[in-house]
Amino acid sequence: MGETGEITTQKLRVGIIMGGISSEKEVSLESGRNIFSKIDRRKYDPIPIFMDRRAALWEIPLKLLMRNSTSDIEDDLKEEAKPIPYETLKDRVDVACLGLHGKYGEDGCMQGLLELLGIPYTGSGVLASAIGMDKYVGRQILEIGGIDVPRTIPVTRRQWEKEQATLLEKIAREIGFPCVVKPCREGCSTAVKKVAAAEGLPGALDNAFLWDNVALVEEFLAGMEVTCGVLGVDEPEAMTPSETIPTDDVLSLEDKFLYGQGENKTPARLPAEQIERIRETAVGTFRALNLKGYARIDMFVRTDGRVAVLEPNTLPGMTPSTVLFHQAAASGITPADLIDRIIRAALEVHAGKRGPL
Ligand SMILES: Nc1ncnc2c1ncn2[C@@H]1O[C@H](COP(=O)(O)OP(=O)(O)O)[C@@H](O)[C@H]1O
Ligand SMILES: [Mg+2]
Repeated sequence: MGETGEITTQKLRVGIIMGGISSEKEVSLESGRNIFSKIDRRKYDPIPIFMDRRAALWEIPLKLLMRNSTSDIEDDLKEEAKPIPYETLKDRVDVACLGLHGKYGEDGCMQGLLELLGIPYTGSGVLASAIGMDKYVGRQILEIGGIDVPRTIPVTRRQWEKEQATLLEKIAREIGFPCVVKPCREGCSTAVKKVAAAEGLPGALDNAFLWDNVALVEEFLAGMEVTCGVLGVDEPEAMTPSETIPTDDVLSLEDKFLYGQGENKTPARLPAEQIERIRETAVGTFRALNLKGYARIDMFVRTDGRVAVLEPNTLPGMTPSTVLFHQAAASGITPADLIDRIIRAALEVHAGKRGPL
């Protein structure tokens, strides 16, 4: 980029970072290679960068990019890929396009590293990413902003070991049944369980504690599940919301991400004023949490019409079948345009920074 922001003949080198060490690394691989295939090559020079299970970075050739799974890629990194020590990343890329999801990629850790390296990156900053990953802290902030969220009781592993009886009573009184139990900071429906009665709580909580030291017990939301992408920096705009059609009690990994399995309808089949309320809630959430670039906000339209926020996704899935591309299309935005906007937002945010975001 020239100083005035116009594109010079030199194409911007975009490091597309994928893989990583979270439970969502296979989805991340799909997101990363989809970004790689859809990015506008007249403007950008994409470089696929794989994060291995030790969080080391590698520039991978096409033949590794096309492998079936992250472990298939890991098998041949030493022979086929070029290691990129963190401190050299800035020599290789002008901007980092994050295809990562979940722990260490979406929660502020990677964002902090990129801040230290001085590399612009797509999506939200350190604090917003960390808050976006922590479902409880995020909900408290949204509540202060007047946004409806499910009634929630956070339970730490220590509390559960020491005060089971008190907690069971509190949950029955304040949340009731059915309720939903989940780890505080996970993704892809990992250990998310609908619990019909008190007897189901210990098992569901023990399962959630395999993933985090804090679990949430929350109100089961009835009504229609909807999700809405938001784009922008200072003037965020909502795309066209989708409704999510569940095939089971809670959405599993396959329902949401694997090709052809996702059951979404875009636009959501709701009256115009409801659609508008969903879009306003999505933008309100984006602003309240200080999200940047893009995000997808998952919500429920309650049976009485109120819109409750379930969670923000600060680096939402970018696989070919994910709703973000359907919503973009419904709003007249092609996949290449969507990726372009996300990268331009990263550059804009970086240029205006007065310290880490
Ligand atoms: N409180 C709830 N009420 C109803 N359904 C829920 C609730 N919490 C989660 N679900 C269902 O489970 C899915 C995954 O839960 P979510 O909180 O989004 O976790 P993750 O971060 O793993 O995506 C949601 O998309 C929704 O279908
Ligand atoms: Mg979710």
